[in-house]
Amino acid sequence: MDAQVTVTIEEKIATRQVRAGVIGLGYVGLPLAVEFARAGVETVGIDIDSRKVDAINRKECYIQDVDGKLFSDLVSQKKLRATTDFSIIRNLDTVNICVPTPLRKSKDPDISYIVNATQEIVKYLHEGMLVILESTTYPGTTEEVILPMIEEKGFKVGKDVFLAFSPERVDPGNPVYNTKNIPKVVGGVTEECTRLAVEFYKLAIEKVHSVSSCSAAEMVKLLENTFRSVNIGLVNELCKMSAKLGVDIWEIIDAAATKPFGFMPFYPGPGLGGHCIPIDPHYLAWKARIHGFSPRFIELASEVNASMPEFVVEKSRAILNEKKKALNGAKILVLGVTYKANIDDIRESPALEVIELLEKGGAEVSFADPYVPEVRLHDKAWRSISTQAKNGAFQSALEESDLSIILTNHKCFDYEFILKHAALILDTRNATRPFSDSRKIVVRI
Ligand SMILES: NC(=O)c1ccc[n+]([C@@H]2O[C@H](COP(=O)([O-])OP(=O)(O)OC[C@H]3O[C@@H](n4cnc5c(N)ncnc54)[C@H](O)[C@@H]3O)[C@@H](O)[C@H]2O)c1
Repeated sequence: MDAQVTVTIEEKIATRQVRAGVIGLGYVGLPLAVEFARAGVETVGIDIDSRKVDAINRKECYIQDVDGKLFSDLVSQKKLRATTDFSIIRNLDTVNICVPTPLRKSKDPDISYIVNATQEIVKYLHEGMLVILESTTYPGTTEEVILPMIEEKGFKVGKDVFLAFSPERVDPGNPVYNTKNIPKVVGGVTEECTRLAVEFYKLAIEKVHSVSSCSAAEMVKLLENTFRSVNIGLVNELCKMSAKLGVDIWEIIDAAATKPFGFMPFYPGPGLGGHCIPIDPHYLAWKARIHGFSPRFIELASEVNASMPEFVVEKSRAILNEKKKALNGAKILVLGVTYKANIDDIRESPALEVIELLEKGGAEVSFADPYVPEVRLHDKAWRSISTQAKNGAFQSALEESDLSIILTNHKCFDYEFILKHAALILDTRNATRPFSDSRKIVVRI
């Protein structure tokens, strides 16, 4: 009986007859569902947000990185569809959980989305199913939270059903690396769980790397993002230090990066953003503290990175002061509000805090971001100024602002145009460096 169950799902994977489900159709889940569908697997996306589900079924793609034509073809061919009805899980062989993992106000992990999704899965779970958690979380979540919920229903994991963790490593806006060609790390509860999850991913993902356990796979993702957070924290601290020492951090990094080994450049900026780097290390720190371990690097990096919006505002105050102007009453144009370049995501973006601090300081803030039509903070809303040079609004905004602050280095900004028309620029991303600045209006952080 057991062997037969294993063979069944194995056979379904081998023949691409496997019916896949993806729970959570955001930046991670939708591209993943598209990859399985593209690999010929009949795929159903499940989300509690009916607007996303309806958009998918209407062939409207809302994730920038997904190829719109491919997406629409897959929906037309019925390889991909979406629903808010979890009972579809009865008909599925696999389900990947891609729901959010935010922090509580206390900076403790909020795994309620994972728990809610799992509660729905276990209602419809059946023999032979493969469940894979992809949401970033602390080591232990899969085995300490999901496994007991499944086994409470009378299923033995590794025998009746299969459970694994595989971190999603997608980098929105990256033109080279995407869901398909970023190697997938997989760790299952048992060897059989790992083996089946690896075979399943191989249908759609170019390279799959297995590790010994779910906790190891969970930890891999946290190492990667803690590595980024700590290195960005280090370079942000060196940026602040360089300002005191009178050296240009950007020049230093460029020169250090000429070393062909032992150095990897990281760049300073206005702070961390997005759903990963500012959040994930806190998942690890929380778990470490439970085990009586003090995660000092994580906490220090987080502190330094969190101080950057304030640093940007202080720098703005200082450079306005040099021009005999006060921040209070100054007109400030923020260029770019997304947390990184060339994407439309403003979650946790440091720009939001910078805008808030500038407003608190009495500045009159406007913003321009071709990817973001509107920003809302508390009760206030701002519409983006159009950056189309032809309509003149952008030129007027640059000319009439006492200071323009580049917070996101979108490729589509016309930096020569910005340099030509802005009165004064604070460039937090070194975006204007490649363009000549004969008027010396640029200050870098
Ligand atoms: N965005 C990234 O760049 C990125 C990269 C790697 C890993 N991750 C991780 O992947 C996970 C998902 O992130 P995301 O950026 O895709 O989030 P997202 O907010 O873009 O998407 C999550 C989706 O889950 C849905 N959802 C919430 N609760 C649900 C439930 N109970 N049942 C069904 N659907 C539910 C939401 O409606 C939303 O559509 C997080 O753990 C994140 O840390 C994100």
